[in-house]
Amino acid sequence: METYTGIPEELKLAVLERIKPTEPEREKLLSIQEELASQVKMAAEKLSVLGVLVKMVGSAARGTWLSGTHDIDVFISFPEETSRKELETLGMAIAREVAKHSEHAEDRHAEHPYLNIIYKGFDVDLVPCFRVPSASQIKSAVDRTPFHNDFVKPRIKGHEDEVLLLKQFMRGGRVYGSELKTQGFSGYLTELLVIHYGSFENTVCAACSWKPGEKIDIMQHSEIEHEEPLVVVDPTDPRRNVAAALSLDKFCMFIDHCRELLKNPELSFFFPVPLLPLEDSEILERLENRKSTQLTIVFKTPDVVEDVLFPQLYKMEQAVATLLKEYEFTVIKTGVWSGKTETAVMLELISGTLPHVKKHIGPPVWVKVHAEKFKEKYQAADGVFGGYIENGKYVFEIRRKYPTAKGLIEDRLMSCSLGKQVHQSVNEGFEIIENAGICRLEDPNFRVFLRKWV
Ligand code: CTP
Ligand code: MG
Repeated sequence: METYTGIPEELKLAVLERIKPTEPEREKLLSIQEELASQVKMAAEKLSVLGVLVKMVGSAARGTWLSGTHDIDVFISFPEETSRKELETLGMAIAREVAKHSEHAEDRHAEHPYLNIIYKGFDVDLVPCFRVPSASQIKSAVDRTPFHNDFVKPRIKGHEDEVLLLKQFMRGGRVYGSELKTQGFSGYLTELLVIHYGSFENTVCAACSWKPGEKIDIMQHSEIEHEEPLVVVDPTDPRRNVAAALSLDKFCMFIDHCRELLKNPELSFFFPVPLLPLEDSEILERLENRKSTQLTIVFKTPDVVEDVLFPQLYKMEQAVATLLKEYEFTVIKTGVWSGKTETAVMLELISGTLPHVKKHIGPPVWVKVHAEKFKEKYQAADGVFGGYIENGKYVFEIRRKYPTAKGLIEDRLMSCSLGKQVHQSVNEGFEIIENAGICRLEDPNFRVFLRKWV
């Protein structure tokens, strides 16, 4: 029986050495934050907007950011009485004024508009929000964020390294990020885990025994039930689950990653070796070994943000799998990949072809009216190979409508429920590539994806 000896101190130090911001890096970030704060104040004065406060939030404001990541979240907070319309126009006007000093600016949209700018190499979000009295009285989803800051900052002091370790470990396990593409852990969630369990190591040990339905309620103030696999009640809002975006699979991937780390504590759990793009010859060899059918539906990448695109792609993936099963194809697995120009929905099947004959089972012979109707219909029909009685039921061997998966998808894809932008793009044209035909897709990122796929 192995005994648990903990995660070696040297390992944690070796990880921290690579991810902890250096003093100069910290000072740089701090001075940029100060610059931005005064820019916002000046812009508000210039535009004669009263009552505006600037708030630095997110990991940059809490000392829990990973070295090399350069994002700063600046909240421009307006008095609660401000109308939504005013918040949007005045907030964006202030943001645009600040953006005059930036290298690049881009309008983004969450629940309401905000501005993303590149400022002296930093990726900065300028987000207008309402200054509400508590996180349970928010007017817009982003209004919670300043409360998160107030909760986390004093409690994480002295434990920042633990958060860095946990974030990097989650990155290594490909479960970090709460965007709809990743469906993993958010930065705020990792901070709450460290606050709850006390350290990185305690979190890892606890997660080894997590089960779906795991609930953490730091303030003991939960007001509603949640269905998600992990429930971490927001300490600033008793009705919200901070882990709402975490999928069952990412939850389980994290559990698995934790167990593996404790078995064999190694740097590679934090910094996995990057996968190389698969070469043509490797694709051919692997497909030959697998002897399955690979179908790849390729279409132009819709011009929308990932948070809109990925839910639609996951929906399409499900819809196509359901269609295939309905017509008796056996799906091994499905996946999606999206690049700058092309997007692919991947399907691996036991076989892409089925016999022309299909067994069609009717009602029991003793259900007189139905049975007679059934028999009459199929006896007279074209393309019927034959009929007999089996287990008391009429059975007809009829001609299969779609003997190939490719033909089925070509014919029926457009009647699947696809999201708006994906529907539009697929409607403009799609291609179904079979097996080694995927060698046509040369994007190195796709080839990396393929290495995991086959
Ligand atoms: N936030 C949230 N829920 C999300 C994403 C963000 O509540 N799904 C809030 C959190 O308060 C978070 C802040 O917005 O701290 C900034 O978001 P983000 O930059 O995504 O996360 P960070 O905590 O800054 O973590 P990271 O180090 O990954 O930037
Ligand atoms: Mg951030």
